This record gives sequence, C-alpha cells and structure tokens, in this order.
Amino acid sequence: MKIISNFAVFEGGDGSGTTTQLSLLTERFKTLKKPVFYPTFEPTDGQIGKIIRAALKEAAPVENETLAMLFAADRNEHLYKSEGIIERAKRGELVISDRFALSSLVYQGIDCAASCGGELPGLLNWRFPAPEMTIFLDVEPEIAISRMKGRAELEIYEYLDFQRMVRARYRSVIEIYREKGAKVEIIDACKSAREVADQVWSIICQMPIFNV
Ligand code: TMP
Repeated sequence: MKIISNFAVFEGGDGSGTTTQLSLLTERFKTLKKPVFYPTFEPTDGQIGKIIRAALKEAAPVENETLAMLFAADRNEHLYKSEGIIERAKRGELVISDRFALSSLVYQGIDCAASCGGELPGLLNWRFPAPEMTIFLDVEPEIAISRMKGRAELEIYEYLDFQRMVRARYRSVIEIYREKGAKVEIIDACKSAREVADQVWSIICQMPIFNV
C-alpha cells in the first residue's frame, strides 16, 4: 500500500473526539515554528463536501451508494487538488486530517452492506494511499452518545446501534489496514480530552518530520 509521508489522520466513531483533538493539536502547533502544520477535515468544506453535509442532516437525502461515491469524490479532491494533502505533505508540511478513507470503509461499509452487498466502499477507497500515521480514538458507544446529548441536531449516523456497529467495524478494518502496511495507533478515548491530547502529542512527535 502506498503511504503518504507527513500525513496523519484521526479516526473514530461519532463523539470520539476527533474534532476536539485536532483543535487541541492546532493550539499546540501555534507555539512551534516548525514543522508547518496544516489541519484539515472530511467531509471537506468544498463543493462536494457541502452536498455531503446536507445529506448527513437529512435535508437532502441520497441513496447509500450515492453517498459512498460523494465521500470518495470529496476525498479525491482533498488529496489531489492544487494545495491539497499530497502537494502540502510533499513540500514538507505536516498535514493532519479529521477523518479519511477508513471512515468510508467503516460507515459506508455498514450502509452499503445493508443495501448493495457492501463491495462499493472497498472499491472506491482501498485505492487511496494511506497516511503515515492513523490515530484511532476508541470510545465506548454509550459514552459517545452521552457526549452528543447537548447537540441541537443529530446527523444520520448518531444513534447507539449504529455507533456499536461502527466501533466493531473499525476494529476489523484497522486489522486489514495494518496488514496492508498502514500504521495505526489506538487510544482509549473514554479518558479526558487533555489526557487523550497528551497521548496524541507523544505519537505525533515520533513522526519522522520532527527529526528533519
Ligand atoms: P464529523 O462528525 O467527523 O464531522 O463527520 C461527519 C459524519 O460523516 C460522521 O458521522 C462520520 C461520517 N463520515 C462517513 O460516513 N464517511 C466518511 O468517509 C467520512 C469522512 C465521514
């Protein structure tokens, strides 16, 4: 499997804290001159990402297969566009994304298994190169759901039964990802955000870009 140097990804179920951890990391990088840090996320805020966000809110429902294709198209742009992940990582920036291909292999893997035999997310996503480091924030689905209680609006995947499937599927997909040569660290994300952030920092600091 092709690996993208200088690129790391946060993965996890909803409520696992991927977004919180990326913003805590962004704070830490503000005090560092090097490496140049580029935080990013999926779905992106580009044209395709906006369609996805609407679909996730049920404002514009689409077929499961369509959603799988939209996520992959959004990712393709995110990766290969001018000033995208590949270009930035190649010129020596440290790019860290809140979610990447594993999210599709897990979420759309579950969705499409129910509707089309489940092959499509694999066909669309195993072709993407992997990040140099993936950090999986592992949280009990019950804790994740309790973290979402205060939210005004929930998205289509934010309910307990689905999150249980998400956690189980991450475990099996991570195994395959590792067999293909990708590096994945698992952090117990039931801990406080600060404790998780310290563990994240020690993992990120071991990336080769810090020794340049
Ligand atoms: P977020 O909550 O991390 O912003 O992500 C939005 C939702 O989209 C979340 O439920 C995970 C889901 N998702 C997928 O289903 N497939 C994907 O490929 C990605 C990137 C996110």
